[in-house]
Amino acid sequence: MKTDLVEQIKDRLDIVEFIRHYVPGLKRAGKTYKACCPFHQEKTPSFTCSSEKGLFYCFGCQEGGDIIAFLMKIENLSFKEALERLADLAGIEYQSNQPLSGEEQLRANVRQVLNFAREHYHKNFMSRAGEHARTYVKSRNLTKETCEHFELGLSGAQGVLTAAAKQAGFADSTLKEAGLCIQTDYGLREYFRNRLMFPIWNQRGDTVGFGGRILGEGDPKYLNSPETILFTKSHVLYGLNFAGPAIRKAGRAVLLEGYMDVIGCHQAGVEYTVAPLGTSLTEEHAKLLKRYTQNVVVLFDPDEAGLKAALRGALILVEQGIFVKVASLPDGLDPDEYIAQYGKEKFESILDNAQELITFHLRRLLDAHPGPLSAQDKTQIVTELTQTIAKQPDAIVRREWVKQVAENLGLEEPLVMQRLTQIMRSQTRFTPFQAGPKPAVVHADETALAPAPEEELLAWLLKSPQHMVLCEALTERDFSSPRLWQLFQTLVSVHQQNPQAADITDLILAAVPAQRNEVAKLALLQTPNDFDPARDIAACAAKLEQAGIHKELQAVTRQMKTYGTGQVPPEVFQAYMQLQRKLKKYRS
Ligand code: CTP
Ligand code: MN
Repeated sequence: MKTDLVEQIKDRLDIVEFIRHYVPGLKRAGKTYKACCPFHQEKTPSFTCSSEKGLFYCFGCQEGGDIIAFLMKIENLSFKEALERLADLAGIEYQSNQPLSGEEQLRANVRQVLNFAREHYHKNFMSRAGEHARTYVKSRNLTKETCEHFELGLSGAQGVLTAAAKQAGFADSTLKEAGLCIQTDYGLREYFRNRLMFPIWNQRGDTVGFGGRILGEGDPKYLNSPETILFTKSHVLYGLNFAGPAIRKAGRAVLLEGYMDVIGCHQAGVEYTVAPLGTSLTEEHAKLLKRYTQNVVVLFDPDEAGLKAALRGALILVEQGIFVKVASLPDGLDPDEYIAQYGKEKFESILDNAQELITFHLRRLLDAHPGPLSAQDKTQIVTELTQTIAKQPDAIVRREWVKQVAENLGLEEPLVMQRLTQIMRSQTRFTPFQAGPKPAVVHADETALAPAPEEELLAWLLKSPQHMVLCEALTERDFSSPRLWQLFQTLVSVHQQNPQAADITDLILAAVPAQRNEVAKLALLQTPNDFDPARDIAACAAKLEQAGIHKELQAVTRQMKTYGTGQVPPEVFQAYMQLQRKLKKYRS
C-alpha cells in the first residue's frame, strides 16, 4: 500500500473529529481528548485521543493506533477497506492502479450479482406479488420497518430472477458462481423459488448469500445458499453486521438458533443477538465473536436438540477463552415468540439469570440420573464434567469449577482434580499441532508431565536441525527458563558449526555433558503422527514468539500506566505500538 496515501489521509483528517462520529462524548482534557472506550465497557473514561499525535489509545483495554487502525477496529474492516473509506472521506482520489486478478474479478462479479438479487427479491416482496409473503411475516409479528431493515425478500417462480439478471447484464456463469443458479440436464435452474428470502451479510455488511424459508409448511423449511467464493457458512454469523456496535455497548452477545429469532430480538430492541446459519457453531464463529466481546450467552430452543446444541456450542466458545453462560426460555417458546409475547425486559432478565456452563452441564447430567447416584454414576459424571472443565483455558475458573463439581457430587476436590489432570494430559501430550480439532491448551499448573512448548521445539530441532532458520526470531524473552534458552543456543551453534549433520544429538551431548539427561529426554520425545518438520517447527516458534511478545507488551503496558494519561514518553508509546503491531501479525 502506498504510504503517501496514508500520509495524505492523516494530514487531511483530524483523528479527534473522526472518532467523534463514533464517540460523541469526547471531552477535552489538556492536550488530549477523553471518553468512555467504544471497544470495551467502562464507567470512567480511559479512552484517549490526540489530534497532534494522530493516535488513540485506551488505558483500559489497551487498544490503540492511528485513524486507520481505529476505523478497522470499529467497523471490522481490512486495512485496504479502511483506507478506501478514509480516502473517500478526505476527498482523495483512490484507485488501485493494478488490474484485478482473475479471482478478484470473480469476487467482484459475484458480489454485484448478489447485491442485484437482494434488491430484486426485496422489490418483489414489497410489490403486489409479495402480498402473501408480507401477510406471512406479519403473522410472525414483524413490522414493515423490520422487513426493510433486514431487507426481507421473496423469490419468484423459476426463471424470474434469471431473466432480470440477464437483462441487467449478468452472465449465467456469474449466477452459478454466486450460488443463485445450478446447471441441470434441463438447463439453468434457480436455487430459490417462491421462498421468503433472508439476505445474509457478513460482519462487514457485504451480502454473501441467502437463506430462503418456505412460506407456510413444507420441506425443507429452510434452504441456504451453497458455499461460494464469498460465502463460507462456518465464518458467518447472521445479524452480526447490525449487532456489532450493540454487542460492544452491552458488553455481551447472545447466540440464538435461527434467522427469525435474531430478527425478532432486534425488532424488540435486543440488538446484541446473532445466530449461526443452521450449521453447528465453529471455532471460526467463536473467534469472530471474540473480536466483539468476551461474554456470550447461548440461548437455544428448550428441546433436547436445542440443549445438546447449546452445550456443544458453549464448549467451542469456552475453548476460545470466552465466558459462556447458557440460558433457556420457559414455555417451549422460541426466542422470537417469547420476546414478542413478554417483551424486552423479561427477555433480558432471562439472559441475566443464565447459568454458568459448568452448572448447566452438571444439571443436565443430574437430570439424566434421577435418584441417588451410584458410585458408577458418579465416576461417569465426573469424567464428562472434567472434559468440559479441561476446555476452560482460565486456571482460576477451572479451579472454581472443580470445587463446584466436587461439592455437588459429594466428592473430595483432589479426586476431581486428579481426573481433570488425567484428561488434560491425555489430550495434550505430544499432539499439539495435529490437524483437525485442537486439543485443549497446555496449562502449566496441572500438566507437569506434558512437555513445555520449548521442549517440543528443541526435540523437533534435534530431529531436523536444518529447520533452525525458522527460529531466527526467537529471543531469551520467548523461553520460560534460562536453562532451555541456553540449550537452544547450544543447538544453534552446534548446527552452525556442523551444517551438514543430519543428526546432531551426539554433538550436543558432547557439547553439554552435564545436561545429558535432558538431551536424552528431548531426543526421545515422540513426534506427532502427522509430523511435518517445517510446518510444526514454524508454528511452534511462532507460538513462542507470540507468547513472548505478549509478555513484553504486558510489561510495557504496566509501565505506561505508571505515567498516566498524556504523559507517556513517545519512545515508550512507540515500543508499545510496535509490540502491538507484531502481535497483530499473529492475530490476523
Ligand atoms: N435451518 C436450516 N434448514 C432447516 C431448518 C433450519 O438451515 N431445514 C436453520 C435456519 O438457519 C434456521 C435455524 O436452523 O433459522 C433454526 O431452525 P428452526 O428453529 O427450525 O428455525 P426458526 O428460525 O425457528 O424458523 P421458524 O421460526 O421460521 O420456523
Ligand atoms: Mn422459530
